[in-house]
Amino acid sequence: MNFLKIIFLSIFFIVLYPPISFSDVAENWQLGFQDPATPIMEGIINLHHDLMFFICVISIFVSWMLIRTLWHFEANQNSIPSSLSHGTLIEIIWTVTPAFILLIIAVPSFSLLYAMDEIISPAITIKTLGHQWYWSYEYSDYLNEEGESIVYDSYMIPEEDLILGQFRVLEVDNRMVIPVNTHVRIIVSAADVLHSWAVPSLGVKCDAIPGRLNQVSLFVKREGLYYGQCSEICGINHGFMPIVVEAVPLSNYITWISNKLNN
Ligand code: CUA
Repeated sequence: MNFLKIIFLSIFFIVLYPPISFSDVAENWQLGFQDPATPIMEGIINLHHDLMFFICVISIFVSWMLIRTLWHFEANQNSIPSSLSHGTLIEIIWTVTPAFILLIIAVPSFSLLYAMDEIISPAITIKTLGHQWYWSYEYSDYLNEEGESIVYDSYMIPEEDLILGQFRVLEVDNRMVIPVNTHVRIIVSAADVLHSWAVPSLGVKCDAIPGRLNQVSLFVKREGLYYGQCSEICGINHGFMPIVVEAVPLSNYITWISNKLNN
């Protein structure tokens, strides 16, 4: 009885007080997604759930057919094989049904694909360059009195310099700072070899290609620290060029920018 009471109370409290901290960093043994912070990532997760429905139905149906076939047409149970070679109706059904399922899936998939490609009149443009093996960020919308824009490098913090609570191989010395609830355009390129600028919670994975500019748009809905990693094998330190995006309120962003410009 006591045990049931505990279970009932825990369910009650989980429903009443949902977790208030978000997961924007990889966790040990993680199987699912990190929590979304942009409408695009919400869309990706929703599409994943939609597809999961079809995957489950198809997997169960195909397994059921396979097991039934193995059972009923096993040599001992069915010693005289059927001479049946084809059936027009069944062939039409098993051609049209998958095509129909693909059509149903294509609708949300294409709308998401085009939404991801859309750059909605960005208020800020940030250029991010992949290097062997660090990222650099350039805020060329702003110039100081000498006519210089904000450019800085972002290196991983080595393990021996970490302080308590920091994530191994994920922290950087200089984060990319962006305001929340603002349309931001990120221009991605590389200075040497292929890299990929990827932040799971923001739903971004953009190839950084030398000599080419790729762009993605970001609209971060909540303040936070978003951790990502280079996602294109780029050499020996590929695993040691993480990305940290710090989403702050607009006023903090303006303060940060003016501090950067004045030193
Ligand atoms: Cu840069 Cu992998």
